[in-house]
Amino acid sequence: MKKDTILAVKDLYVNYYTYAGVVHALNGVSLEIYKGETMGLVGETGCGKSTLGHAIGGLLPNNARITGGSITLDGEELVGRSPEEMRIIRRDKLAYIFQNPAAALNPVMKVGDQIIEAIMVKENISKKEARERALELLKKLGIPEPEKFYKSYPHELSGGMRQRVMIAIALAKRPILVIADEPTSNLDVTIQAQILELMENLKKQFHQTTILITHDLGVVAQTCDRVTVMYAGTIVEVGSIYQVFKNPSHPYTQGLLRVVKFSETRSKLPTIPGTVPNLINPPSGCIFHPRCKYAKAICKKMKPELKEIENGHFVACHLYDNV
Ligand SMILES: Nc1ncnc2c1ncn2[C@@H]1O[C@H](COP(=O)(O)OP(=O)(O)OP(=O)(O)O)[C@@H](O)[C@H]1O
Ligand SMILES: [Mg+2]
Repeated sequence: MKKDTILAVKDLYVNYYTYAGVVHALNGVSLEIYKGETMGLVGETGCGKSTLGHAIGGLLPNNARITGGSITLDGEELVGRSPEEMRIIRRDKLAYIFQNPAAALNPVMKVGDQIIEAIMVKENISKKEARERALELLKKLGIPEPEKFYKSYPHELSGGMRQRVMIAIALAKRPILVIADEPTSNLDVTIQAQILELMENLKKQFHQTTILITHDLGVVAQTCDRVTVMYAGTIVEVGSIYQVFKNPSHPYTQGLLRVVKFSETRSKLPTIPGTVPNLINPPSGCIFHPRCKYAKAICKKMKPELKEIENGHFVACHLYDNV
């Protein structure tokens, strides 16, 4: 483990128990997050991005279980903690930003008071100090007339402004790690761009460590330092933005990037051939093999490990076995 590792997920398995059967949502996921970085987490719908985000903070629903592996945050093991212990860890160390800020905000409390509450629940400071810090934060968030904003109720604000409140609440308690799960998906494109710019500025000002979950590779390229590509409950590629975009090495990542290039030129939207596998009965070996044009015999039999193909660039693919 590197010295500046804030979060280390090791060989994590998560299942959902449903009437249709057991959904194997995460199958041996390993990931390290370093202090001050923004890690993008991408992959098609249903590949397990939110499951991973939820598992880290103990937010999995009742029908889910972590069946193997470990999660270390700030040197502390989180797997096996009680719900009450996890509540305190979330309060003191983590912040989540979700897609729908309206649902996460208290509708009958002024936004300023909600920010103050987030500060005071963790730190033993006076209300006056907390208020000053909240206002300072609103200024840093580039909010015009912070005093007026402070006294508004959530319903008086636009979606973009509400998401700014959520970001303020998230950062007010100075969390060790922010997990932002599709924070801009519900906003229109111009607001989306403003929020992303805001997150970038905040990163520069606060050196915040963030996991940014998104479908959007453009967003990743713009805001992240590194990227993790997931496919059907596994990690297929990890590297710096430069490495992965310049030299995408897993056939799935190559497919994803090809889709992006095509949609930029607005030609007919191509898709990666085949469909995402059923996670109740996942394919044997490499889970991508049924869709992979390079698949060989070994791919049907053996699950590939993540291998380092250049410094800090990892790929889970049998094509690289001899590299
Ligand atoms: N509460 C649940 N009960 C049963 N299965 C679930 C539950 N939540 C998620 N799943 C299943 O687990 C798998 C991973 O889902 P998850 O929501 O983590 O994917 P995701 O990558 O976040 O997708 P999206 O991009 O659509 O948000 C999917 O097969 C999904 O159907
Ligand atoms: Mg999700």
